[in-house]
Amino acid sequence: MTEPLYKGLLVEDMAALDRVIRARLHSEVALVRQVAEYIIGSGGKRLRPVVVLLAARALGYEGPHHHELAAVVEFIHTATLLHDDVVDESQLRRGQDTANARFGNAASVLVGDFLYSRAFQMMVAVNDMRVMQVLADATNVIAEGEVLQLMNCHDPDVSEEAYMRVIRYKTARLFDAAGRLGAIVAGRGRDVEDALGAYGMHLGTAFQLIDDVLDYSGDRETTGKNVGDDLAEGKPTLPLLYVMRQGTPAQSALVRRAIAEGGSEDFPAILEAIHATGALDYTRAQARAEAKRAIDAIGMLPAGVWREALLELPIFAVERDH
Ligand code: IPE
Ligand code: IPE
Ligand code: MG
Ligand code: MG
Repeated sequence: MTEPLYKGLLVEDMAALDRVIRARLHSEVALVRQVAEYIIGSGGKRLRPVVVLLAARALGYEGPHHHELAAVVEFIHTATLLHDDVVDESQLRRGQDTANARFGNAASVLVGDFLYSRAFQMMVAVNDMRVMQVLADATNVIAEGEVLQLMNCHDPDVSEEAYMRVIRYKTARLFDAAGRLGAIVAGRGRDVEDALGAYGMHLGTAFQLIDDVLDYSGDRETTGKNVGDDLAEGKPTLPLLYVMRQGTPAQSALVRRAIAEGGSEDFPAILEAIHATGALDYTRAQARAEAKRAIDAIGMLPAGVWREALLELPIFAVERDH
């Protein structure tokens, strides 16, 4: 894929974002700094802040708050990753040992709490009630999403609707908030905010669908995460739900057992069933449909490069390999 438009457009904004992130990471407590810098310093795509920045710019915003809000969103995202890797017992993130693998579960959970609460301090400093509402609600729903997912683990009878609800809550809701923040900071009314929120919701849903594809088809070197983590945990993601629905009775039984029991012995056989049934193509098609909904949601934005960059992001989210 050629380089996405936003990279060139946001060079200065992303540098400013990085400065805010560095400055706000500070803590008197050495271990907090060490763990926070370990995960933040390993990079990440910074896609959620990109949505805040592009949305604000597309609406003509030039003021000082968008970098702060973009950093808030990245801190909330990073806090969820620290917690998620403990819950998922993941060992690799952004091409290096996860924080839990390196520093232990306790340090990861506690520094995740530090990042959440730092994000809330920064958000309060912006002093806009609507901003606080959107972020407080989003953070609350993300937590519900992770708990819902925990309840669904090892349950092969989870419906496609229940799966979609989990990914909207745990992932898409923060993209939704990112789009809204761009509109709020630009001083727009509820209609524009809702449109950017819908854009973020569909973009985030497409993004997580592809994350779930990459957990079966990705390359460890490219994604920076281990392949097969979802199966090992007995996570009923869409590729598996599709095999149970469309596969032969034997394929379906194989997947049912793997979800119920977890573990990775069956990974090669399951991968074969996934390929034989076209489960990844099906999941990608759902992601493409979500990407199209995201694009349709922002037709009303003023034409120009910022809108072009926003329109391109859902395509990038679906075509990505990392
Ligand atoms: C990982 O998000 C968690 C999901 C919602 C799939 P990203 O893929 O955006 O992670 P980084 O920030 O780029 O590492
Ligand atoms: C996304 O789910 C987690 C959050 C939204 C916190 P995953 O568990 O699939 O994310 P990865 O694959 O670990 O990045
Ligand atoms: Mg995970
Ligand atoms: Mg994943």
